[in-house]
Amino acid sequence: MNGLLIRDLAQVATPAGASAPLRGPALREIDLTSDGYVLCDEGRIAAVGRMRDLGPLESDVDELDGRGLSAIPGLVDCHTHACFAGDRVEEFSLRAGGATYEELHARGGGILSTVRATREAGPEGLAASLAEHVGWMLAAGTTTFEAKSGYGLDRETELAQLRAIRDAGGVPTWLGAHALPPEFTDGGADAYVDFLLQDVLPEAARLAEAADVFLERGAFNAAQARRYLEACKASGLRLRLHGDQFTEAGAIPLAIELGAVSVDHLEATGPAGIEALAASDVTGVLLPASALFLNRPLPPGRALVDAGAAVALATDFNPGSAFCESLPLVCSLAATQMAMAPEEALSACTVNAAHVLSRADRKGRLAPGYDADLVLVGAADWRHLAYHLGGPVVDTVVAGGRIAWSRRA
Ligand code: NIG
Ligand code: FE
Repeated sequence: MNGLLIRDLAQVATPAGASAPLRGPALREIDLTSDGYVLCDEGRIAAVGRMRDLGPLESDVDELDGRGLSAIPGLVDCHTHACFAGDRVEEFSLRAGGATYEELHARGGGILSTVRATREAGPEGLAASLAEHVGWMLAAGTTTFEAKSGYGLDRETELAQLRAIRDAGGVPTWLGAHALPPEFTDGGADAYVDFLLQDVLPEAARLAEAADVFLERGAFNAAQARRYLEACKASGLRLRLHGDQFTEAGAIPLAIELGAVSVDHLEATGPAGIEALAASDVTGVLLPASALFLNRPLPPGRALVDAGAAVALATDFNPGSAFCESLPLVCSLAATQMAMAPEEALSACTVNAAHVLSRADRKGRLAPGYDADLVLVGAADWRHLAYHLGGPVVDTVVAGGRIAWSRRA
């Protein structure tokens, strides 16, 4: 046995339901074991139970003392833009002075300033930046992350981003249709979509698992998004959309029609969109840190859950609209700003997020056979994950049955 026993845990908490995505009341069902243990073997969870039921172990099992701690599944961040170079602290200051995100973007700042920095970084610089960001995410409890391209907007840099994400162990999503690059200012968005589909898609489809598009005024319209997504689907990619961030521009109907996995943001979604999403198989990915960072309305998380929609929570970690890699903070925002119970927040950033990434059979729950990815929360009640706003809630992170990060180290 190549094992790790985490023993004497005050609590082991895991989403109860295995049939992802969880919806409605099932989203808040948590299996709770007090005075428990988790046994990992060969990178998988072998057993979860109460200490008093723990039988004799083989001699070569390492032990980790869990006294005073609680275990939850490793967190799954299903929406990030973690592969970027540089920062946007200057823009952050301008926004604090009253400039808006959309104004800065229209003036050639915003996303396009990160495009300039990312193109200049080159593959090695990009890998180094991503490695730093992955370290931050891991220390915040994220053991599985998705990351998007979308800061290259030329063939070479888009593909370099996807390779860097894959090499860093992330789940790559091709976001070629993120913004219009300067080379296409004259040709316009239709010509840029032509270029993406002809010159980049064939290789991007080999590197990425999904495609994403920013469907919004000032970015891509519904017709352009449809053309891009249909071609990506035909190349075998799963579909995702940035939708309803500032305006309802048709993202939800398009996502449903094309069988997308998710539509993400939803800050501007109204009652009809909530109803349509709830009746569909599309997961709504809520990004409250982005809404907070841009001082925008929070997405209607409570209404979506009550309507029966499948929802996930993610950070949207990026240098412009959400310089935040912390899913625990996102859980705090879900609880305090969207009236989601800590239990709902936990399911939304574990099992449901794993579903968005097509990994719900292996990730997002603490049960035999699942990957041995865990967060040890530094409190005897796991709900400190959401309760301790911005606090040092992550004590230790286990990934693939090994200690990957520890506050005590
Ligand atoms: O999800 N809205 C579009 N894209 C990102 C932001 C990217 C950026 O500002 O660099 C988002 O918020
Ligand atoms: Fe995003």
